[in-house]
Amino acid sequence: MAQGSVLFIGGTGIISSACVRQAQASGLAVTVLNRGESSTRPLPDGVESVRGDIRSPDSVREALGGREFDTVAEFVAFAPEHVQADLELFEGRTGQYVFISSASAYQTPPSRLPITESTPLRNPFWQYSRDKIACEDVLVEAYRERGFPATIVRPSHTYDRTALPTMGGFTDIDRMLRGAPVVVHGDGTSLWTITHNTDFAVAFVGILGRPEAVGDSFHITGDHAPTWDQIYTWLARAAGAEPNLVHVASETIAAIRPELGPGLIGDKAHSMVFDNSKVKALVPEFRTTVTYADAARETIAWFDAHPKQQVVDAELDAAFDRMAAPVW
Ligand SMILES: NC(=O)c1ccc[n+]([C@@H]2O[C@H](COP(=O)([O-])OP(=O)(O)OC[C@H]3O[C@@H](n4cnc5c(N)ncnc54)[C@H](OP(=O)(O)O)[C@@H]3O)[C@@H](O)[C@H]2O)c1
Repeated sequence: MAQGSVLFIGGTGIISSACVRQAQASGLAVTVLNRGESSTRPLPDGVESVRGDIRSPDSVREALGGREFDTVAEFVAFAPEHVQADLELFEGRTGQYVFISSASAYQTPPSRLPITESTPLRNPFWQYSRDKIACEDVLVEAYRERGFPATIVRPSHTYDRTALPTMGGFTDIDRMLRGAPVVVHGDGTSLWTITHNTDFAVAFVGILGRPEAVGDSFHITGDHAPTWDQIYTWLARAAGAEPNLVHVASETIAAIRPELGPGLIGDKAHSMVFDNSKVKALVPEFRTTVTYADAARETIAWFDAHPKQQVVDAELDAAFDRMAAPVW
């Protein structure tokens, strides 16, 4: 059993909720700091809940007083000033600060596969990824200059049953059920690494409190990289529909719906396959146990049981009709 204390900032999100459960199961004393606004994934019994808003450092100081933690795991930092504020809060008060970055920070499109931790960080297409890189830069400097005990973790696409991975979310499922054409970016054959949050959590908790992980960076992804056509087809079959997939260039999709552009051209349009041997060297038990073939059924069952979450975006639906219309 692991020993020690961990403070999660976040803790009830898609990834962090599984990490909280895994940390508790591994014997760590778990404290979660959040605003108490999210209710989809309640905290398990035995986890200490502390109310605070990480964007208001005074509220965090008030909530935590002078407490120290063996590890602080930060899930909701998206800009360098967020990390800078954490340095002011936690420097000298934790043995390890784990920053959740993003695998979308890696060179996009990648010039060679698989992606390793040596792959350069550069994403000209997605501001979210550029901001994560800027956060990492602050931490690398703090480690080099002052020995601040940072560990950088880069998840790639990580999901639980509440999160549909496709462009249109439930709008796609609704189209499948109606037999309407469902738009898939590119030619549907690019490979997409997709990781269940419970698998991610095994590797994540395995590096908490590990001196070998300090000052270093790791991506944590599964080894399961199906094509997008497979992902859409598994979802359709789970919903009891025959998929009617229509392939549309990512650039065309971005021209019609600009807000979809960065996440496609800066991420999902490219085959993304990762070499996970670095984290596996520290956490040999980490492996992929859930593939999307199974997870698609779990996700559709969750949406069936939660009718209020079956939200169709009428404007996006109309845009998909436009994209799917034959042009010749
Ligand atoms: N899922 C993916 O595919 C993926 C891929 C790459 C990187 N990431 C990274 O993973 C992280 C997200 O992880 P997640 O999905 O587990 O979390 P999440 O879904 O973003 O959940 C947010 C959590 O943070 C809390 N929170 C939000 N704002 C807060 C604030 N101002 N102060 C304190 N707590 C706050 C929320 O609770 P309250 O609302 O109650 O405060 C909730 O517990 C992000 O850093 C993201 O960039 C995710």
